[in-house]
Amino acid sequence: MKICMIGSGYVGLVSGVCFADLGNNVICVDKETNKIDNLKNGIIPIYEPGLEELVKKNFKNGNLNFSTNLKDSVSKSDIIFICVGTPTKKNTNAADLSQIFAVTREIKKSIKKYKIIVTKSTVPVATGDEIEKILSTSKLKKLFSVVSNPEFLREGEAIRDFIYPDRIVIGTSEIRANKIMKNLYSPLISKGANYLNTNRRAAELIKYASNAFLASKITFINEISNLCENIGVNIEDVSIGMGLDKRIGSRFLRAGPAYGGSCFPKDTRAITDTGIKFKTDLSLIKSVIKSNDNRTNLLLKRVQHILKNKIKDKIICFLGVTFKANTDDMRESSCLKMIPFLSKKGANINYFDPSGKKKILQKIKNVNYLSSIKEACLNADLVIIHTEWNEFKSINFKNLVKKKNFSIYDMRNIYSYKKMKRDNIKYFCIGR
Ligand code: UDX
Repeated sequence: MKICMIGSGYVGLVSGVCFADLGNNVICVDKETNKIDNLKNGIIPIYEPGLEELVKKNFKNGNLNFSTNLKDSVSKSDIIFICVGTPTKKNTNAADLSQIFAVTREIKKSIKKYKIIVTKSTVPVATGDEIEKILSTSKLKKLFSVVSNPEFLREGEAIRDFIYPDRIVIGTSEIRANKIMKNLYSPLISKGANYLNTNRRAAELIKYASNAFLASKITFINEISNLCENIGVNIEDVSIGMGLDKRIGSRFLRAGPAYGGSCFPKDTRAITDTGIKFKTDLSLIKSVIKSNDNRTNLLLKRVQHILKNKIKDKIICFLGVTFKANTDDMRESSCLKMIPFLSKKGANINYFDPSGKKKILQKIKNVNYLSSIKEACLNADLVIIHTEWNEFKSINFKNLVKKKNFSIYDMRNIYSYKKMKRDNIKYFCIGR
């Protein structure tokens, strides 16, 4: 099929290259000339395991192309995926849809024959209706269908998540559009992927409700881990005990720092805004947002307790600063709150992250990026394990850290506290 992905960020690039790898003819469009030039030279704008190889392979075999020319790309394609950003609008909880509507107006100019316009960006309920309104002129009436096809990709596992999705959700009540979309996804359906056709608003809501539910599950287990700390019970035993109940499920029950990233924080906020628009009080999700916002303060209190409230001139080492492992993404990472707070308290912060140095941390006083775990840990009074990268899972801290009475705060519970105790290491963790 001839496909055009508008917006070559996370969603557009990963989905686009995967569609190309399934044998479709894909054009990834972006208004940033640099990004497009780089992509043509195999330079990938995001950190995602396996993406570079797949882009190079499909660009070479001609299935995948890059362009800044939206008009031309749309006219050459039958299915147009809108994959531009929908960040939170400043000082609101609402999603900013300005890019969605700007692209829609551009697409409108290039519709000469029947096309399917698909929203793959995360868009609030009824956005498809707005897009349809913009496109609807007497001339274009029968020449397009607007479909919702939300993505459920996780950063760090995006290609795997595309090829082996738990479900493919297609929001349209038009038989013709549904038939074409089902055909597009038939290679994944034949591999066992569930295909769900529902109406457009339901598909839009499935995305938000799913993210809000996952964020609630994480926040729930984080709160239970606080209780475990006060009772003296191991949260992992509780997670396992809960997760064995198929109604609950074992995934997304790992307690840790506040959830972050480009999706959960933004989408939980946006769905509460949709609630207001449709006169529905989503009090549960509001509590989840509040609890998650408080979580970082709670963990910071713990840090101060570990350092006996003597933060000034202490050397604190962060292992991992992104919002989770296997990504270079700092968006809504809890480190963006923790590090400035500790720096203001007079601490010296060294950090190492396998995905490299972070521009956003450069402007904070006494914060240094070190290019190895060894260098970052060497003079530490406290080592904070913030993300669960594999390379953090078998560190011999006694060999690495010079100071005798250093402490470790393992915010991802990747080490056994019994072993740490045996090694006489002052070890703190989550809910254990
Ligand atoms: C999420 C959704 O999983 C994905 O389906 C959607 O398309 C985009 O948003 P992503 O933001 O990449 O994906 O991250 P995810 O792996 O879901 O983690 C989100 C946050 O939850 C991270 O901060 C992570 O550390 C945290 N998390 C996740 C936990 O604290 N415990 C868990 O058990 C799982």
